[in-house]
Amino acid sequence: MNPDLSLLRGSPFVALRELLDPLAPQTNIKPISLTIGEPQNQPPELMKRVLKEHDHLYGKYPPGDGTVEQRTAIVNWLNRRFTLPEGMVEQDTHITPVNGTKEALYMLAQVLTDRSDPAAEKPCILIPNPYYHVYYAAAIMAGADPVLLHANRENNFFPDLDTLSEDVLSRCTAFFLCSPSNPQGTIANRAYLIKALELSRKHDFVLIMDECYTEIYDQAPPTGILEILKSEGGSLSNVVAFHSLSKRSSAAGLRSGFMVGDPLITRAMLNLRNFAGAASPLPVCAASAALWADDEHVASNRTRYKTNIDIAEKHLEGRFGFYRPPGGFFLWIDVGDGVEATKKLWTKAAIRVLPGEFLSVTDHTGFNPGRQYIRIALVFDPEVMEEALSRMVNVL
Ligand SMILES: Cc1ncc(COP(=O)(O)O)c(C=O)c1O
Repeated sequence: MNPDLSLLRGSPFVALRELLDPLAPQTNIKPISLTIGEPQNQPPELMKRVLKEHDHLYGKYPPGDGTVEQRTAIVNWLNRRFTLPEGMVEQDTHITPVNGTKEALYMLAQVLTDRSDPAAEKPCILIPNPYYHVYYAAAIMAGADPVLLHANRENNFFPDLDTLSEDVLSRCTAFFLCSPSNPQGTIANRAYLIKALELSRKHDFVLIMDECYTEIYDQAPPTGILEILKSEGGSLSNVVAFHSLSKRSSAAGLRSGFMVGDPLITRAMLNLRNFAGAASPLPVCAASAALWADDEHVASNRTRYKTNIDIAEKHLEGRFGFYRPPGGFFLWIDVGDGVEATKKLWTKAAIRVLPGEFLSVTDHTGFNPGRQYIRIALVFDPEVMEEALSRMVNVL
């Protein structure tokens, strides 16, 4: 067995089951689980129709890089969403479709980590803490040191880039940065993104932007890294961004997303995926093309999440450090002790949430930046969210 497997931190969802399964709710009311970032509304009819229209294609091996129609729809969406000039992103060199971004985020760390010289200093990968758990596993299995950077409230929940040491920067191969952030739902501003980009180019590492929540926002569309690249001259070097249909189109089960960016990296990724990646079936490529071409269903998803945030605000404003998450669909609230609050919510209100501690690592001083928080996914219909939030405030 690969001994690095023993270094992986357990999945937050397994840890949650271990915490809550031995405890029974002391109430007969129906349990509601607000733990996973999975939209609970149906994907648009459009997806089902296009899948059906193309179902004669399931017998064919699909191409590793998707279809021209899919990549073209993706480029058109990027151009609309981030107001990019024609030609800045090219469908045949800058885009790699992937079967969900989770596996691709993991695989990219394998592409980027140089293990050719065992005598060289160990490469490292920067990860915000708390984080999406795949980043950590990706770094470990690529043979890199995961360097956890605290993302505290004072910094809008983004790591302080001014405190990175020269040692870390010189060993750094990649920086996973998520905006809108999971779990906190904050958005990296232009100045922050420019600083991250400049660092990546100065120290020759890859800035990996995880932008899978970029279409879910409260007031203003989050700035995407491609907009920054446009204003900095248009080159895509040292940067890749990930986008997904899982949240945008409530289509987590379709397993469809893409990476866009530096052609050296998108081509290297495609090369590795030709050996080790599962290509998306042709009907999925067709559905993906149709979904990226349609913005209407996305606007209605956004309205739904706004309504849920309004409900959360009504119940939580002025308590638990509540703020309206500017992006994404999670609440990140300060309950003092996240594990205790999670147990209480389960036993007294039959509500399952995720303790922040399960999404973050304790540092050498014993500090864990997630410990005082819980994450709440606002993914159900407003009636269910109303019920869940009123039960929660009654027991917290
Ligand atoms: C921050 C973040 N990145 C990536 C993903 C993966 O999404 P998918 O594999 O469905 O594209 C998720 C899913 O929850 C996520 O929260």
